[in-house]
Amino acid sequence: QADLKSALLEINKEAAKFYYYQLRQKTGEQGMAYLKGRELSDETINKFGLGYSGKFSNNLYRYLKGKNYSDELLRQSGLFNVDEKRGMYDKFWNRVIYPIMDVNNRVIGFGGRVMGDAKPKYLNSPVTKIFDKSRNLYGLNMARSSRKKNLIICEGYMDVISMHQAGFNNAVASLGTALTSQQASLLKRYTDEVLIIYDSDEAGVKAALRAIPMLKTAGLSTKVINLRPYKDPDEFIKNMGKEAFQERLDHGMNSFMFELKALEGQYDMEDPQGRTDFFKETAKRLLRFEDEIERSSYIKTIAGTYQVEPEELRKMVNRLAMKGV
Ligand code: CTP
Ligand code: MN
Ligand code: MN
Ligand code: MN
Ligand code: MN
Repeated sequence: QADLKSALLEINKEAAKFYYYQLRQKTGEQGMAYLKGRELSDETINKFGLGYSGKFSNNLYRYLKGKNYSDELLRQSGLFNVDEKRGMYDKFWNRVIYPIMDVNNRVIGFGGRVMGDAKPKYLNSPVTKIFDKSRNLYGLNMARSSRKKNLIICEGYMDVISMHQAGFNNAVASLGTALTSQQASLLKRYTDEVLIIYDSDEAGVKAALRAIPMLKTAGLSTKVINLRPYKDPDEFIKNMGKEAFQERLDHGMNSFMFELKALEGQYDMEDPQGRTDFFKETAKRLLRFEDEIERSSYIKTIAGTYQVEPEELRKMVNRLAMKGV
């Protein structure tokens, strides 16, 4: 088992080197143009070890066979598809390649992006003996030594890379998956505070709402960063620059207030009944805070934000508390 793992790590390292080299060759021009088009500097491209897989779907296979790896081992690397007619062929071709490192800088998997609008936009390594997307965070190998007071969690490869390039080198990505409890514990090893900066679309809001309790359970304090009107950190930085981005980071939203804002959307706040139902649900959620001072301070904030008498809300909460809901 240990032998298998180290052999798979070795194959990944060879593959990363192969893709890295391809990007910097004449044959990789299109890949390089794509990355430059996304405003990445040479330094950034090198720092993240970005690569390119060419237009033919057996280049990597031939390269690794040349190094005498067995088909069985190559199959277990997750870098190849197996087809009855075609045999084994490269999983990644005609894509820019993002090697995924663990915290010890070992290449454990890959992501590959099409250079246009084709689907699927990204392909990722499958689960292998050395890779499980749900147990790793992209960029943590670098972010762990950033010396900032928190870590930033975002969705994607390009978000991490753009943030690092702009100096926000404490950014990591959960790679599109909803954040897992393993990822939350992993974050907790390196920080006590996490800024959630998921995409500002519906999927991103949902993912943030699921991540909050997960991070809380792991013992992390959390804030949610608003990127609107932009879609993700990469787009925000591209359009607004790093000072404006820092400003957004400095004004993160309390995660409970973020939950309430999302909840508000489910009620008709113009309607007295709708408002009452919203405050009932809010009161129920306020029961979570057992600390009197904390609960009371939320009540004041909510009263201010939603124009309700703090005493009314306090009464609702107390009534529920007595019912033991
Ligand atoms: N993702 C994936 N497979 C897809 C789409 C997304 O694995 N088909 C993952 C990738 O890790 C991606 C992340 O989910 O980085 C976030 O997805 P999305 O917001 O759609 O992509 P972006 O990261 O914004 O991609 P880009 O900026 O390159 O368009
Ligand atoms: Mn997204
Ligand atoms: Mn994007
Ligand atoms: Mn995105
Ligand atoms: Mn300010």
